[in-house]
Parts: sequence; C-alpha cells; structure tokens
Amino acid sequence: MVNPEEIVRAETELVVLDDAPAWREFHERVLRRAGFGQVNSYPAQPSLLYDHINHGRGRRADLVVFAIQPQSEFSWENLRLVRGFFQGPVLATSERFDPAIRERAHGLGVPDYISVGDCGEEGLELKVETALTAFRINSLIDDNDQRTQRIFLNIMTVMVKLLENKDPYTRFHSHSVAIWSRMIGRRRGLSEEDLIRLGLAAVFHDFGKIGIPEEILNKPAKLTDEEFTIMKQHPTIARDLLSSLDLMHDLLPAITHHHERWDGRGYPAGLKTDQIPLWGRIICIADAYDTMASRRTYKEPMPEEKVLAELHRGRATQFDPELVDILVQILAEKAAEKAHEKGNGNGNGLNHTAL
Ligand SMILES: [Fe+2]
Repeated sequence: MVNPEEIVRAETELVVLDDAPAWREFHERVLRRAGFGQVNSYPAQPSLLYDHINHGRGRRADLVVFAIQPQSEFSWENLRLVRGFFQGPVLATSERFDPAIRERAHGLGVPDYISVGDCGEEGLELKVETALTAFRINSLIDDNDQRTQRIFLNIMTVMVKLLENKDPYTRFHSHSVAIWSRMIGRRRGLSEEDLIRLGLAAVFHDFGKIGIPEEILNKPAKLTDEEFTIMKQHPTIARDLLSSLDLMHDLLPAITHHHERWDGRGYPAGLKTDQIPLWGRIICIADAYDTMASRRTYKEPMPEEKVLAELHRGRATQFDPELVDILVQILAEKAAEKAHEKGNGNGNGLNHTAL
C-alpha cells in the first residue's frame, strides 16, 4: 500500500550547510535513508544556498540544516544571513548540546535546534520531520483566519486527549486543570483575554509527556530516580515541540515552568518566587490540586481536609502563597455552596458560572 508520508518525503528537498565534509556526508546519508527525495549539501556559506535556490534549474529547499560552529562569530553571521533571505524552516545543529546555542539561534529566528552528536540519526530524522510539519501547519494559518486557528487547536487538543486516554484516570486532567486555572486566574485579576490563553496553556501543560516512554508514564508505583529524571524533561520537551508554532508562543513560559516551586527547588530552571511566570504558578497549583483531589491508578482521591493541609504545607514553599489563599477561599465557598444545596435537597456543588 502507498504510504502518504513516504510520498511527501520523496517530494521534499533538503539542503545541508556544514563546513565539515564528514558531517555533510553523515547528514546526506541519514536523510536520504529516511526517504527525503533530494538532499544536497554544501559548506556553510549563504551564497551557496542562494545559488542553489536561484540558479539551480528548478532546485529548491524545503528545509535547510545549518551546522553552527558556536565559537565562530563568522558562523553566527552566516546563520543570520541565511535566515535573512531563506523563508523556509531552518534547523540549526551542533555537535554537542548547549542551551546557549539554542537561545542564540532562537534570537536569530531559528527556533529549531538539535545536537546531532547527542540525538543520533533517529533524532535528526525526527527533528527534520517535525520542523517541516510545524512550518507547513504555520503556513496554513493566517492570523486573520479564525477558522483555521480553531481547526489547528482542535488537532492539538485531540493529541492531548490521545495522550490522556492511555490512562483512564487522567482522561479529563488537562481540562480540569484548565478550569481550576481559570477560576484562580479570575480571582487573581487576569483579563478575560488572558484567561482564555491561560486555559489553553493549562490544556497543553503536559503536552511534553508525548515524548516520555509509556512504561514510565503509566508506572503504577513510585518512579526511580532515573525514571524521575526522564519524567522531569516533559516541560522542556513541550517547549521544544511547540516553540516553532507562532500560535502557541505566548503559552510557552507557562507550559515550560509549571513544575517550578516558589522556593526555587522545582524544575526545569529552578526559578523562584515571581521569577516564575504567573500563569506557570497558577497551572502548578491547579495541577497539584486536581491530582490530589482525583482518583489515579495508584491512589484514591485525597479527602478534602488532607488536600487543604497539603495546600497549607506547600504555601510559600511549593506554591505562590497568594494563590494558595485564593484556592483555599474558592474551596471554602464551594463547600459552603454544597452544604447549602444539600440543605435544599439539590446535589450539584459545582458553580459553572464561576468558570
Ligand atoms: Fe506536568
């Protein structure tokens, strides 16, 4: 049977710009084997790419792989020049991973970065594919086209659902975190527009778990130190996967930092107090609350008094103290509403108008 992905790859033309002949050969071999129809490689000079596109008799570049020499200002200048005239996706590569390279490339408008030495052949193939896909999705989206944006967000939401469907007890977790985040955010004084974006960030907060092995994600027992180290990568995986999508840009700080702690002992960056983006702090407490108060494969829901005790215990250590006070107040109001409704013989405790 014909595989549509294979056809798209065979039609795709890639250009590799790399000063090292051995690495050029490596890139060509890996990408050709992955089924990309045309792979041309040159030394990392912008003029060679320019000639390839403009004087290459119908040749084009759907994506450029640019091997950066991080110590060379000349190399950075060349990357800037490539970004200046080439409109398609550019994937920056280096031999060894360095977050400083990623930041600097990002600053030049090159959000896709991989270290080939660390990620290997499979990682390179995957990164080229995701960079191409992200670029194609972005090209479909016109800022003024609400309908396309909605369709796109629906696709992303389906991906989150697929992830959560693996575990029946987390099926509604992201949406639940979104609801609680919006409730807390509203009390904290966020605008209606910000509340919509905060809700979206909350829906996607664990999107990076898509890159965590299933046996770790669904392990019914406590994770080992090694497994926990892998699990802790999910916020940065989400940031890396979503960073090339313009539509998600304002959500990335919240998604990346939803596991930071008020006392600085969280991850991935060890930010503390108001260094942590506000939306990230809100999602953090909403996430913790929903996890404590819900059933999981490995645990029963925690009784309300215990949840409250945990929130107080985490006040100004794990959580923003102001947000703890807000959530505790919301929970007290919900409990009062519930008691009142029980008195009136009406059992639905959740006040949807508050969402
Ligand atoms: Fe998370």
